[in-house]
Amino acid sequence: MEETRIPLKITAHPELCIERVPEHPCGIVIFGASGDLAHRKLLPALYALHVAKLLPKNFFLAGAGRSEWTDDTFREDALKTLEKRGKLNDTESRSFLERVFYQRCNYEDPKSLSAVGEKVGRLSERYKTGGNVIYYLAVPPRVYAGTIRAMGEAKLVHPPAPKGPWTHVVIEKPFGHDLDSAAQLDREIHGVLDESQIYRIDHYLGKETVQNILMFRFANAIFEPIWNNRFIDHVQIMAAETLGIEHRAGFYDHAGALRDVFQNHMLQLLALVAMEPPSSFTADPYRDEKVKVLRSIRPIAPGCFSDCYVRGQYDAGIVDGTEVRAYRKEGGVPPDSQTETFAAIKLFIDNWRWEGVPFYLRAGKRLKGKATELAVHFKRIPHSIIPLIPANQFPRNVLILRIEPDEGISLSFEAKYPGPKFCLATLDLDFFYKDVFKGSIPGAYERLLLDCMLADQTLFVRQDMVGVSWSFITEVLEETERDKVSPALYPAGSWGPKEADQLIQRDGRYWKPA
Ligand code: BG6
Repeated sequence: MEETRIPLKITAHPELCIERVPEHPCGIVIFGASGDLAHRKLLPALYALHVAKLLPKNFFLAGAGRSEWTDDTFREDALKTLEKRGKLNDTESRSFLERVFYQRCNYEDPKSLSAVGEKVGRLSERYKTGGNVIYYLAVPPRVYAGTIRAMGEAKLVHPPAPKGPWTHVVIEKPFGHDLDSAAQLDREIHGVLDESQIYRIDHYLGKETVQNILMFRFANAIFEPIWNNRFIDHVQIMAAETLGIEHRAGFYDHAGALRDVFQNHMLQLLALVAMEPPSSFTADPYRDEKVKVLRSIRPIAPGCFSDCYVRGQYDAGIVDGTEVRAYRKEGGVPPDSQTETFAAIKLFIDNWRWEGVPFYLRAGKRLKGKATELAVHFKRIPHSIIPLIPANQFPRNVLILRIEPDEGISLSFEAKYPGPKFCLATLDLDFFYKDVFKGSIPGAYERLLLDCMLADQTLFVRQDMVGVSWSFITEVLEETERDKVSPALYPAGSWGPKEADQLIQRDGRYWKPA
């Protein structure tokens, strides 16, 4: 296959931009400041916002955690974290770190959280942040409810008031373990917080390319008329990773792929590709449409499970040229673990737009490549005008929205290969973000932290969406439990178990090669 890169022309529309700079001063408190999330994502994202001049002028950052650190040790630690990610500008890093502080605490202990409250009070006065605070829960999920309860008792939370200081609380996934536990967690959290104060994060929603799905669908008039069951044959959604479970056996072995990525990222991608146009891209109209489409997912009929759902677990194999061990040999994983590290699901959406269109979702760890994408496969031509080439031999047009890597969009179409013979050739019209929009793509956490400062909940997951996603996934989990279906083993470095290929091939279709 020959590859030629066609330059794309870009016409920016500065007059069609909406400026988004936080108007209100605020402080941010990261619970779990010495943990992995704070180091890998939150500190770099806040620093990037600082460099881009997107943090409020009046701002402070306070780490809070169990480590016996001081302001200075946290600053040194933050500096090391930032240095690891690339060369720093001295002036920028100094002015960022000047506003960084630390308070030791025990998350679920109101007395200990009162000390956090006192520190926040002092910093609010010093930095004139008017008492506006974001509390980010980068702590183990088992302490979410207890921490929020203790925050309530320690009076860290102000009830929402039109002019009063605001409190926003960011909660990471997983939000519950199944439908019941998510509902229970919600009840406990709502005992202290109003829904308008809760920012449930799914970092996929902050990814630039995920936001672009919406722009692609609703800023162009040419796609919407064909975005339905009259023109679309099926949709594939894939999230493949080469990584294993890293050091997360304790969490992952109780979660598995369904809870870890299907209940959230995969269903969010499904909602974006399948939702109706919202009346506006603002929190409630947008989230209403997403919930509506997820509510229309047809439950998998008990008799259809083996045809519609495949679970897999990675065995030993080779990934990126390196030998890697089987999941059951990973540190902390029981040798007889039945946890799935891969899942493939075929599902239908029961509404006018999607009736009869299968959606094939697959995601897994230790696969051959890292690739997250949506592929919309259009129907074949209804009739061939070329004798000897029947219509069912014509390739389908495929539109691919690549989330990562190689972020971009590609559309395949058929053309005549030049020459005396009548030969077809498939051409891919490919757009790569990196080629067109120079510079690096902002990270998901930058966007989401900024939105939280702007009190914009659009890209955060509302309570009803958590429930509706869990309700579909919990049924699949319960059926697996009843049937005691063991995961099919697949060699690390492959594209998953052969059963997943059979799932789609039974319908005369194939996974799109990544
Ligand atoms: C997280 C999951 O939510 O998403 C991880 O817990 C997974 O298991 C990660 O590796 C994938 O995110 P990304 O942004 O690398 O696709």
